[in-house]
Amino acid sequence: MKAWQLHEAGDPWDHLQLDEVASPEPGPGTVRVAVDACDLNFADILQCQGSYQVRLPTPFVPGMNAAGTIVEVGDGVDLEIGQRIIGSTIDGHGGFAEEALLKPSVSNLIPEGIDPVTAVGMHVTYGTSWFALHQRGHLQPGETVLVLAAAGGVGSSAVQMAKAHGCWVIAAAGGPEKVETCRRLGADVVVDYTNDDLYERVMEATSGRGCDVVYDPVGGDYFDIARRLVAWEGRLLVVGFASGRIPSAPANHILVKNYSVVGVHMGGYRQFDDKPFERCYTELYDLLLAGDIDPLVSEVVGFDELPRALKDLFDRKTTGRVVFDPRR
Ligand SMILES: NC(=O)c1ccc[n+]([C@@H]2O[C@H](COP(=O)([O-])OP(=O)(O)OC[C@H]3O[C@@H](n4cnc5c(N)ncnc54)[C@H](OP(=O)(O)O)[C@@H]3O)[C@@H](O)[C@H]2O)c1
Repeated sequence: MKAWQLHEAGDPWDHLQLDEVASPEPGPGTVRVAVDACDLNFADILQCQGSYQVRLPTPFVPGMNAAGTIVEVGDGVDLEIGQRIIGSTIDGHGGFAEEALLKPSVSNLIPEGIDPVTAVGMHVTYGTSWFALHQRGHLQPGETVLVLAAAGGVGSSAVQMAKAHGCWVIAAAGGPEKVETCRRLGADVVVDYTNDDLYERVMEATSGRGCDVVYDPVGGDYFDIARRLVAWEGRLLVVGFASGRIPSAPANHILVKNYSVVGVHMGGYRQFDDKPFERCYTELYDLLLAGDIDPLVSEVVGFDELPRALKDLFDRKTTGRVVFDPRR
């Protein structure tokens, strides 16, 4: 089968190699799938560069999250060939290939009526925002939410999820086209933080009060501004560090303003407490089938375009999710 493989750590657009490799063999508790769709995550880039928290020995096939049709079932798996499944790929047999390995115990069956591109467009992004806003952030209807990188993958999902929960949403993103995307996603106020003063605009929009919840997948300098925008007794959700710098929050500032800095690591729940996942995806599929959320998939690419699309993601050129389809 065809697979993009990484033979040594580095930028994936320079280091990925298109190889002909043997199909991966499913061990006990795993299945082999024909990949139907695989989304491009910022974390896939970090993993290739060797700076992600989970490191894989080379060579490996990246693509940490995939939707596929089961073609072979390992021992102890109670599923059938032909069923459609989505989840994290395992053991370096990722989704940037014609086939991948998944573990059904940490995956979901894709409900009837949902196509694989939409399913992967939703899975990690909306899953992350569900854990951030609900499991960790205890979001209440009527609260004010500021989302950074709001036209991006997890950010665009946070805008829609907060709106679906009856919140007032300020979306901040880089550039006029991205803020237009945020407006179309349903944001009440948009801020182009590369051309405008984020602090001033948000304070103006909230009459100096700040925001009950701040959703930050960017870190770095934006985190330093965002922590000053959290309202009294608010929550600052630490989702990611796309800017590359891991920031710090001074404890005296947290104390004086009575706010919480809340860590969000969706994948960590797999190790410590699996139960919220069932609630998360039941609620998300209900919202999706009811039309209350509509995952933003801006581009679907085939094998040839994949390295370029990863570079676009790294260069802040993408909106929503870009999805790989090996049959394209
Ligand atoms: N905690 C979790 O469980 C979890 C789960 C999934 C993802 N994440 C993290 O969330 C972050 C976003 O992931 P994603 O896949 O959804 O990516 P993404 O949001 O589609 O892309 C990252 C966005 O960050 C913004 N950004 C600001 N400064 C940047 C810089 N210096 N370089 C690159 N981007 C910059 C850009 O938007 P603007 O141009 O609008 O600023 C860019 O589009 C990543 O750090 C990822 O690891 C965390």
